[in-house]
Amino acid sequence: APASDSQQKSPLKPPPNNLPVQLTSFIGRQAELKAVKDLLMTGDVRLVTLTGLGGTGKTRLALQAAADLIDHFEDGVFFVDLAPIRETEAAIAAIARAVGLRETSDRPLLDELKGYLRDQRMLLLLDNFEQVTAAAPRVVELLQDCPQLKLLVTSREALHMRGEHIFPVPPMAMPKVDLKQPSIEQLTQIESIRLFIERAQLVKPDFGLTTENAPAVAEICSRLDGLPLAIELATARISLFSPQALLERVGSRMKLLRGGARDLPVRQQTLRDTIDWSYELLDPGEQRLFALLSVFRLHVRSG
Ligand SMILES: Nc1ncnc2c1ncn2[C@@H]1O[C@H](COP(=O)(O)OP(=O)(O)OP(=O)(O)O)[C@@H](O)[C@H]1O
Ligand SMILES: [Mg+2]
Repeated sequence: APASDSQQKSPLKPPPNNLPVQLTSFIGRQAELKAVKDLLMTGDVRLVTLTGLGGTGKTRLALQAAADLIDHFEDGVFFVDLAPIRETEAAIAAIARAVGLRETSDRPLLDELKGYLRDQRMLLLLDNFEQVTAAAPRVVELLQDCPQLKLLVTSREALHMRGEHIFPVPPMAMPKVDLKQPSIEQLTQIESIRLFIERAQLVKPDFGLTTENAPAVAEICSRLDGLPLAIELATARISLFSPQALLERVGSRMKLLRGGARDLPVRQQTLRDTIDWSYELLDPGEQRLFALLSVFRLHVRSG
């Protein structure tokens, strides 16, 4: 056979990966990043699931951890976008495509994939698993047959598989309310505020934290619960509204938080879309409960 057909791995070539390049800076999350990487580097940890609300930063954290670990997986690190997928077979096909497996035989694709990945030291990042959780048992079968394979999953909900290590991704650190007269310097250290400043500078290059706008910026970040997606959506408006004016509108945050980047996934273009996406994943009984709770919340608020 020609040399190019051999399975030999060259120690000089960097491991392959298909991680999407990020167009914005990665901010903060140093403790979370370390925790996720430590988990993935622990020998018997094979499945790590980052869970949390829509827009809390699961994908971004997973991508950063995966990128940092490229050198630890000599056969590669591969990103699989499961967001558009609803069926188990389609999920398996998406994984096969990501790792470069072409369908060649009439064997079931999962068997083919198991054979293909058997000796591979590989990390798969399975992104947005929440709407194909039914596929979890089949996908996790891969771990039994491929002893060197590891899975890093993002999902609004845990997969509830044996051996799953759940890592809840918290919102970004928020300004503390008891911080009465914080300095600009102190405020700039806080993750959610740094995200606000850096994203505001994308639309308004001369934006900076000042003694006038700092209290409003801090208040916006707390009112948005430190949710990175919400903060990014809010800063998209900074060329129209001062932070003080934004703050007045955060009360009706559903209306304010429109107009996110058009190349964001549809489910993330507005905070409403993010909530709708989660809602559509609930079964009818859960949807009724959700409706009841939102009515309840309205009453509490107006009371
Ligand atoms: N640490 C971070 N640094 C910079 N930007 C971040 C960070 N965390 C999140 N973001 C940004 O916030 C937005 C939402 O984050 P992300 O897409 O990771 O959320 P998610 O939890 O995966 O949401 P979903 O459940 O909808 O998939 C993205 O635009 C992302 O780039
Ligand atoms: Mg995501």
